[in-house]
Amino acid sequence: MNVLYSTLVVLHLVGMAGILGGVAGELIAKRTGVPTLVLHSSGLQVLTGAALVGIASSGLVAVEPNNVKVAVKLVIALAVLVVAFEAHKPGKLPKAGLPVVGGLALLNVGVAVYW
Ligand code: HEM
Repeated sequence: MNVLYSTLVVLHLVGMAGILGGVAGELIAKRTGVPTLVLHSSGLQVLTGAALVGIASSGLVAVEPNNVKVAVKLVIALAVLVVAFEAHKPGKLPKAGLPVVGGLALLNVGVAVYW
């Protein structure tokens, strides 16, 4: 189970890189739309995060989840997903969507590391 848990952590970090890298790439290219990479990475974060908490809560690995921290991360990650979904559609939230997605994802990295 440790290997599965560690693999999910790797995928969780890949998802973080997908969001932040995708946002940075678009900002550097001076584009404003949310690319599919960022939308799919946002979904990956919710799925891998939920799976990590599920495995940790079941006691199959020696990790004790902090439920308040996880709840805060889930709310932020769902906001990232909804904004990415809306801003991915052409003509919707064209300018604000990208920086909001990047900023909220960065906020979740801060919650993950500092809390
Ligand atoms: C935009 C969304 C998210 C980002 C950018 C993000 C980022 C991160 C990062 C950078 C870490 C590694 C922290 C460290 O090792 O110190 C981490 C770990 C973790 N995240 Fe997330 N996260 C997100 C969403 C979520 C969600 C929605 C959940 C749960 C519902 C979640 C649950 C976890 C858990 C349980 C760990 C600990 C893994 C471990 O080291 O045992 N994350 N997250």
